[in-house]
Amino acid sequence: MFGSDSSPPLLTTPDGSLTALNARFGEAYGSRHGARSQAWHVFVEGSGTHVHPAPRVLEIGFGVGVNARATLAATAGSGAPLEYLAYEFDPVSTETLRGVSVGGEAEGHPAWEALLGAWDIAGERLKVQAGGAALEVRFEDVSTAELPRDWATALYLDGFSPSRNPEVWTPEFTARLAAALAPGGVLTTYSAAGHVRRALGAAGLEVERRPGAPGKRECLRAVRPL
Ligand SMILES: C[S@@+](CC[C@H](N)C(=O)[O-])C[C@H]1O[C@@H](n2cnc3c(N)ncnc32)[C@H](O)[C@@H]1O
Repeated sequence: MFGSDSSPPLLTTPDGSLTALNARFGEAYGSRHGARSQAWHVFVEGSGTHVHPAPRVLEIGFGVGVNARATLAATAGSGAPLEYLAYEFDPVSTETLRGVSVGGEAEGHPAWEALLGAWDIAGERLKVQAGGAALEVRFEDVSTAELPRDWATALYLDGFSPSRNPEVWTPEFTARLAAALAPGGVLTTYSAAGHVRRALGAAGLEVERRPGAPGKRECLRAVRPL
């Protein structure tokens, strides 16, 4: 049974979407300035996943599923088959996942409903397939996990902030993430910190600063050359 969170407080953000507060890291899972806006702008649109004919998304980490639902919503109906693989080492409870999604996008997507239905009985990983989408969550520490290679068309780097959770922002880990991207794949992240840009560049990615989501001046996209 998951749920070390013991029902963390939910937070309504200015775009009307919900997120939650994480006690362990002392941060909100999504942007307090608009969780849905950040998911869409930084991750979905930033990586071009909404227009990809066969998107394969790798997410670090799954959190309360706002990015996953934004991706389901953006790809539903397009006919593009979605493969979504996320890592999460501290899963929230089903109650929290459901609570954050109430009234939100893709709340009724068959893959989301299947995920909620199986979340409590999952073992080391959970994989559901419904409505043209395959969603998989691996419940392990991504810093020591075996990542797919040359696979992701999009990589959402959404760990907590570099100051609170440095292990998913190191040059060594960033190099492993770069290797998980397919040629032409795009890594996106809300952080535009200089050391993150340098680590992505050192990993061989072409790094571009973009205007940020509400509340942030800039965010990053980094492309693995073809
Ligand atoms: C900012 S939140 C992600 C929010 C999420 N993308 C969403 O849409 O709700 C960061 C998440 O990464 C997870 N995380 C942080 N470090 C991790 C690690 N080393 N391995 C696996 N998950 C990790 C945290 O537990 C947390 O759920």
